[in-house]
Amino acid sequence: MAQGDAAFQQCIAPDCGARYDVAEVRVACPACGGALDVAYDWNRTRPPRSLRAFEAEWARRSDPLRFSGVWRFWELLPFVPREQAVTIGEGQTLLQRADALADFVGLAPNNLHLQYEGLNPSGSFKDNGMAAAFAHAKLTGARRAACASTGNTSASLALYCSVTRLMKAVIFVGSGKIAYGKLSQALDYGALTVQIAGDFDDAMARVREVCVRLGTYLVNSVNPFRLEGQKTIMYRVLEGLHWEPPDWIVVPGGNLGNSSAFGKAFLELKELGLIDRVPRLAVINAAGADTLYELHEQRKVRWNGGRVDRSPERAYYGELDARSIKASTIASAIEIQRPVNLAKCLRALDACDGVVRRVTDQEILDAKAKVGACGMGCEPASAASVAGARLLRSESIIGPSDRVVCILTGHLLKDPTATVAYHSTDQEQFNEILAKRGVRRAAFANRAVAVRNELDDIIRAIQLYS
Ligand code: F0G
Repeated sequence: MAQGDAAFQQCIAPDCGARYDVAEVRVACPACGGALDVAYDWNRTRPPRSLRAFEAEWARRSDPLRFSGVWRFWELLPFVPREQAVTIGEGQTLLQRADALADFVGLAPNNLHLQYEGLNPSGSFKDNGMAAAFAHAKLTGARRAACASTGNTSASLALYCSVTRLMKAVIFVGSGKIAYGKLSQALDYGALTVQIAGDFDDAMARVREVCVRLGTYLVNSVNPFRLEGQKTIMYRVLEGLHWEPPDWIVVPGGNLGNSSAFGKAFLELKELGLIDRVPRLAVINAAGADTLYELHEQRKVRWNGGRVDRSPERAYYGELDARSIKASTIASAIEIQRPVNLAKCLRALDACDGVVRRVTDQEILDAKAKVGACGMGCEPASAASVAGARLLRSESIIGPSDRVVCILTGHLLKDPTATVAYHSTDQEQFNEILAKRGVRRAAFANRAVAVRNELDDIIRAIQLYS
């Protein structure tokens, strides 16, 4: 059984590299403070010889752990015995060809794909990571779990707690910083919801203290087990492309858990000889929350073999503090200024010849309307991937015949306020929600038509507008 010392936790800093048992609860290396990975001695875990081997798993989907889009790939995240994994049916998500959107991005019709993670049980990609975190939490016997959240991690945690009954959920959110769809999930699923005066970065700092004080299991993406589950998003992308890596993976960047997980997935697949080349990675920040862009593209901070120079990061945060600048974007899911997975994301960018871009709220909402119009609605943060792909295509960094996969991280219904404000005819609503963020127009708005409640008027309106 692949566990015990065949799977372990390891500090990512090469000068430290300290190892810890999988059963320990850690969100940083006690020796040096660095981030931890879940690592494997692949010689002892028996990974598959070919990715095609996973196709047979699907035929056994009457077993919930084979049905799970996470645990179907258990051989690539074997940190608990398969029978002890936790699932609520996550990862039934599909890679879809998006011909109707390809033209908007600037690609040939069959070259754009969307990985629609909004189809997860709680409506976002977080369930991939939560399934893995819960498997680990169960191993450790934890009874209470917490997170700080811009809404999706909290919705996912609340759902897993209510379905599995393994732990009680405590969630920290910044007041007024979370979209209603997500807040309603946490409340309805019964999580203890703590609204603090502050934003996500404040809540994140606080929840770490609380978890230490109360011995609570932290499920934010500093938890390395979360990222193991999120690796499977890439396995499903590869599966959808018949195991042929695309040229580009484009993903929104907030706390940088996804991008870190994707990089780790590809590094491991390469090491195992299961793919012969890795896709390029593009991480897209919102312009109002663009720390990664600033550090990677402007100040040229690099992975540097694991010896990341943290001084530009500290200097940047000092400048933001001195000018009282806080993260601000309509894409509230990625309204994050101090990403906790920065070092791991730099490793992913290094491994995948990555680039970072930032897109404005205007670009995000226009892309979001285009995504919706082609039948796969998403929340604003998710549309950053499509807006980012379009930008990279206009810069010719993505080539016209490149095969591109954009990750749609969360469902349209997560944030109805942003969607309705964009399509609204109500100028006041537009101003209140969008214009103050620099959104000037809604070029792809689908306006509701106001008609008197008279049959003839209604018929006339339909004939006029359809
Ligand atoms: N897209 C959505 C819909 C998200 O909810 C998040 C993060 C991201 C993108 C960014 O992903 O952090 O892996 O870079 N949401 C977190 C939350 C922070 O609390 O739900 P990342």
